[in-house]
Amino acid sequence: MKTIWLTAVLLTLVACSEGQDSSVMQADARWYSQAQVDMGRVVFGQNCAACHGYYAQVNSDWKKAMPDAQDPPPALNGTAHAWHHPMKALKRTIDMGGVPLGGKMPAFRDKLNNAEKEAAIAYFQSFWSDEVYTAWLGRGGFKP
Ligand code: HEC
Repeated sequence: MKTIWLTAVLLTLVACSEGQDSSVMQADARWYSQAQVDMGRVVFGQNCAACHGYYAQVNSDWKKAMPDAQDPPPALNGTAHAWHHPMKALKRTIDMGGVPLGGKMPAFRDKLNNAEKEAAIAYFQSFWSDEVYTAWLGRGGFKP
C-alpha cells in the first residue's frame, strides 16, 4: 500500500517538473528576443505608458493623459483582449491609433520606426502568460 502511494507521489512530481520544462520551452519560443524587450521598455515608457501604464496594466493617471476619454485605455499585459489581435492588427493600431475607429489613441506611424513598434509589442507581450501567448498564436498571432 505504502509503495503504491509513494509511486503516485513520485509520478506527480515527475509530471509537475515536466510541465515546468515545457512552459520554459514555450517562453523560449516567443518571436522576440530579450534585446527587443529591453528596447521596448524604453519605447513603451516614453510613448505608451502615460495611458497604458508602465507595466501595460493601465495607469491610474490615464485621465491626465486623455482628459476627454470615457473609458480607460485597455491593459496590454494579457489581462484584456489585446491577444485577440494578430501581429498585423496590433501594428495597425499602433500605426493608425484609435481615431479612425472613433477611439482616442494617437497614431504612431510617423513617430516610431518599425523596430521601435515591434519592440513595444515585445515589451507588453513579455507580461503575457504562456497560456495567453499560446492562445494568441492559435488566433493567427505572429505571421512575419
Ligand atoms: C493618449 C493615450 C494613449 C497612448 C499614448 C497610447 N495608447 Fe494605445 N490605446 C489607447 C486607447 C484609449 C485605446 C483604445 C482604443 C481607442 O480608444 O483609441 C488604445 C488601444 C491600444 C491597443 C489595442 C488594444 C486592444 O485590446 O484592442 C494597442 C495594441 C495599443 N493601444 C498599443 C499602444 C502602444 C504600443 C502605444 C505606444 C507606442 C500606445 N498604445 C499609446 C490610448 C493610448
